[in-house]
Amino acid sequence: MALKSVLISTLFHLTVFPSSSAEAIDYSQYVNPLMGGSGPFAGLAFGGGDIFVGGAVPFGVVKVGIDTYEPNVSFSTINGGWTPKGLVTGVSMMHESGTGGSPKYGVVSQMPLIGSLVEPSSSSEGGRGDVNILDNRTYWQQRVGDDTARVGYFKTQLDSGVIVELSAARHAGIMRYSFPASAGADGKDDDGRHILVDLSHYLPSEGGGQDSQAYLGGEISLDSATYQGHATYVGGWNDGAPFTIYFCGEFDTVPTEAKTFRGRNTDPIARHHVFSNGPVGQAVFGANVFSSNDTATTTASSGPMNDRVGAVFSWRAETETVTSRVGISFISANKACKFKEEEIPTWNLNDTINAAVAEWNRDVFDKIRVATEGESANKTNLVLLYSSLYFMHLMPSDRTGENPLWNSGEPSWDDFYTLWDTFRCTVSLYHLIQPEAYEGQIRSLIDIWQHEGYMPDGRSGNFNGLVQGGSNSDNVLADAYVKGLRGAVNWTAGYQAMQKNAEVTPYNTFSRTDPTASVKEGRGALDDWIRLGYVSVDGNTRCLSRTVEYSLNDYALSAVAAAGGAGVGAAPGDAEKYLNRSAGWQRTWNHDVASRGFQGFLTPRLANGSWNATGYNPALCGGCEWSSITYEATPWEYSFTVPHDMQSLIHYMGGEVEFERRLDHIFQPNTSEQDLSANGAAITTIMNIGNEPDFATPYLYNYLNKQWKSVNQSRQLANQYFHDALYGVPGNSDAGALNSWLVWQMLGLYPVVTQPLYLLASPWFADINVTINRDRTLRIVTTTSNGSDGSAVALSHSGFYVQSVKVNGDTWQQNWLLHDSVMVEGGIIEFEVGDEPVQWEKGEVPQSPGHYVI
Ligand SMILES: *[C@@H]1O[C@H](CO)[C@@H](O)[C@H](O)[C@H]1NC(C)=O
Ligand SMILES: *[C@@H]1O[C@H](CO)[C@@H](O)[C@H](O)[C@H]1NC(C)=O
Ligand SMILES: *[C@@H]1O[C@H](CO)[C@@H](O)[C@H](O)[C@H]1NC(C)=O
Ligand SMILES: *[C@@H]1O[C@H](CO)[C@@H](O)[C@H](O)[C@H]1NC(C)=O
Ligand SMILES: *[C@@H]1O[C@H](CO)[C@@H](O)[C@H](O)[C@H]1NC(C)=O
Ligand SMILES: *[C@@H]1O[C@H](CO)[C@@H](O)[C@H](O)[C@H]1NC(C)=O
Ligand SMILES: *[C@@H]1O[C@H](CO)[C@@H](O)[C@H](O)[C@H]1NC(C)=O
Ligand SMILES: *[C@@H]1O[C@H](CO)[C@@H](O)[C@H](O)[C@H]1NC(C)=O
Ligand SMILES: *[C@@H]1O[C@H](CO)[C@@H](O)[C@H](O)[C@H]1NC(C)=O
Ligand SMILES: *[C@@H]1O[C@H](CO)[C@@H](O)[C@H](O)[C@H]1NC(C)=O
Ligand SMILES: *[C@@H]1O[C@H](CO)[C@@H](O)[C@H](O)[C@H]1NC(C)=O
Ligand SMILES: *[C@@H]1O[C@H](CO)[C@@H](O)[C@H](O)[C@H]1NC(C)=O
Repeated sequence: MALKSVLISTLFHLTVFPSSSAEAIDYSQYVNPLMGGSGPFAGLAFGGGDIFVGGAVPFGVVKVGIDTYEPNVSFSTINGGWTPKGLVTGVSMMHESGTGGSPKYGVVSQMPLIGSLVEPSSSSEGGRGDVNILDNRTYWQQRVGDDTARVGYFKTQLDSGVIVELSAARHAGIMRYSFPASAGADGKDDDGRHILVDLSHYLPSEGGGQDSQAYLGGEISLDSATYQGHATYVGGWNDGAPFTIYFCGEFDTVPTEAKTFRGRNTDPIARHHVFSNGPVGQAVFGANVFSSNDTATTTASSGPMNDRVGAVFSWRAETETVTSRVGISFISANKACKFKEEEIPTWNLNDTINAAVAEWNRDVFDKIRVATEGESANKTNLVLLYSSLYFMHLMPSDRTGENPLWNSGEPSWDDFYTLWDTFRCTVSLYHLIQPEAYEGQIRSLIDIWQHEGYMPDGRSGNFNGLVQGGSNSDNVLADAYVKGLRGAVNWTAGYQAMQKNAEVTPYNTFSRTDPTASVKEGRGALDDWIRLGYVSVDGNTRCLSRTVEYSLNDYALSAVAAAGGAGVGAAPGDAEKYLNRSAGWQRTWNHDVASRGFQGFLTPRLANGSWNATGYNPALCGGCEWSSITYEATPWEYSFTVPHDMQSLIHYMGGEVEFERRLDHIFQPNTSEQDLSANGAAITTIMNIGNEPDFATPYLYNYLNKQWKSVNQSRQLANQYFHDALYGVPGNSDAGALNSWLVWQMLGLYPVVTQPLYLLASPWFADINVTINRDRTLRIVTTTSNGSDGSAVALSHSGFYVQSVKVNGDTWQQNWLLHDSVMVEGGIIEFEVGDEPVQWEKGEVPQSPGHYVI
């Protein structure tokens, strides 16, 4: 480029963006919002990322997207709303991303319809018309062609010819419906254009099941081109209590007709008055608001029978586009209207898209900057990096100011879905690049304890649940505390909240998911844990996985007690007491159990102290279900998950040579005996990177000073299972947990949760600038030695084995570093990489701060 044009373009930028960086790069263009949209079966979401696809801002309350119905019910997964080929049943404002189990949300919907509506008639055949708004089978839609998805924007074309485009702000969404040219110019009302607002719409559990959501009624009132009201929903995977959401919608074009409807609720809902066995009814419509001034006829409410209610807005056949904005609030319809006005001030969809893109770039993508041009830029890797960052910022939802349950002045967050997934490495990344949001999340967790008695492990719809293993909020708080996060967090309260988890058995709420003890919050198997120091197989479900998780949870308490002491209200003996308890995994480790030539495994133990090892195979877990000995992974895998005391674990596994041999084994193909069904498609190793308990395992070679093996194994997993493709992540992305694992892999670091410790791996980019601690920069530079003169060449031509490391200019002997060295004030890590695996590190192996010998 000629100098002259450089000057011109610089001047141009300076003129247009006087206050921002002239070099700002639109990283959002590298996001593939469909990465994870399908699983191993082409065309089905089943076994995939269960991702949300649509319009959203970082940590947004509103996530606007289509809801679909998957006709292949036994292979249906509609958790994120969007599926590759499912039938569109609506466009709704609230979604989860990455969750498994029964869906949650898919509420506050609209659906564009073309045709005549069934009206009740006196004739015996029932009504006339094409569309019975009480029966989605009469209006759900195939899609034509491929959907378009970009950051802050989604577009789809329905079989009916309607094109739906949408975008989102924080508490409001905007939808533009483009109707096809009118079929007949005869003006028949068969061509009528309608938008259905159905309060009884939600994402069902297609296969049924006791944890499906249900609609519990609502109310809607209409004015000419606006509507507002509220509706209540219950259930979903987290066994949520009913929550009520208020909404306020508006159309840019005044309809010719707007009327409410009501109809019998025929959805089966346990313990509620419904007409479950009745046929699908026909809606009874209220009067057109344009021909009546009687508010009684422009409002519909459910009444005692949870009637389905909603509204239909209709336009003439010539109408080409209708744009709608909808705000939502957990507090009031007025607040929902305010959000709509303030956050989406114009009818131009582009304004909302541009604002969303700007927010994503500023608050998320700009935090990790790599070269997008030049020799070392690899488009695929750019897409993997920025898409992964995108997916780990869709949840949790920042509901500050929107807590309907209490008003404490603290930040309010929801959709921790779940900490079991995100405690391992997602929150540690928030710590670095989202310090404000992260502090808010922690304050919110503590505030929930303050007002409801327990911090959540899972929480959604303002309700705690479910707990899959330990009380992992302990790990989240400890991880923040030991890395020095103080801010406005009341750590005395935080430590009390952790102690509640550790000391008080939660009431059993007899969830049908596991009625044996509480899965709502806290630690359901605390009775065993306190009395025996392990979870017994005859006392509690998931005995082994809960034992290892409670061990880490109690290490988390001991770490906070040790570091905070009286300052957090810890009693003098607390650190020692919880350290002892953190060795609980050793109490359920049987040195005599052998598998595949390896000796010593976590083994079910009875409450009376005897082992129950007859016929025990640590490569199997039953179904890895709620009632099994381990949850979502086998004892083989859980036997590696003791990050706080790797020293004892290596010793228990027979020393360094045996530990290495065992680690090598889990990467061998055809070693898995457990059928993982969809979650394990194509995975034949014991190692399953699609499941969170195994996240740290490939990095454990660092504890043997064989970092090159960590690099090789983790990189192989990343290359094999993460792709810029629909089937782009190995299983449910779990609120972005899988995606955050990949981000760390690409940075060449891995955090060890509850410790201020990072293991070194090998970066994927030659130069990475990470904005940490609000305004400091961590720079990660990687050069290649060509082996002869040691000169640096572009990373893309090189091998990835680390040859040497410098930290802040000093030659680094260890394959790890501590938080203080570069994560507080910033700093620089320099990797030199090459083709040859070498044992470059000579220093101490990573610490085992929870080392304890029972
Ligand atoms: C459902 O999908 C599965 C997986 O692709 C397939 O094997 C099965 O035949 C499908 N069933 C129907 C009814 O289409
Ligand atoms: C649509 O209709 C089907 C069939 O009646 C029903 O099972 C499903 O729950 C309905 N709702 C949605 C959002 O798919
Ligand atoms: C409704 O009220 C407005 C204002 O009072 C009046 O102009 C209009 O004619 C009324 N419409 C009907 C259908 O009564
Ligand atoms: C919105 O943006 C798109 C793409 O940049 C452009 O084609 C379109 O004309 C814009 N529409 C309006 C109304 O500004
Ligand atoms: C990282 O920051 C340094 C120092 O400001 C700069 O020279 C370099 O170009 C940046 N690299 C990237 C990829 O942004
Ligand atoms: C980009 O990186 C991917 C791995 O993510 C690799 O498969 C591909 O070959 C690279 N492309 C180029 C042009 O180097
Ligand atoms: C912090 O929490 C403790 C324990 O819940 C409470 O006693 C104390 O008043 C709180 N401090 C502040 C400044 O709110
Ligand atoms: C450690 O915990 C075990 C099991 O709860 C208990 O029996 C033992 O007394 C504890 N030891 C110490 C030193 O506290
Ligand atoms: C524990 O109970 C089992 C089953 O009842 C029994 O076989 C075993 O002998 C008991 N062990 C002890 C130490 O009492
Ligand atoms: C031991 O485990 C087996 C299953 O492996 C089970 O059938 C048996 O009842 C258990 N025994 C006791 C005493 O719990
Ligand atoms: C794994 O098993 C499959 C099916 O039995 C076989 O085709 C494949 O060759 C095996 N792979 C290895 C590395 O043993
Ligand atoms: C790297 O890991 C892969 C997959 O586990 C393995 O096949 C390969 O042999 C390893 N490379 C080295 C140099 O050990």
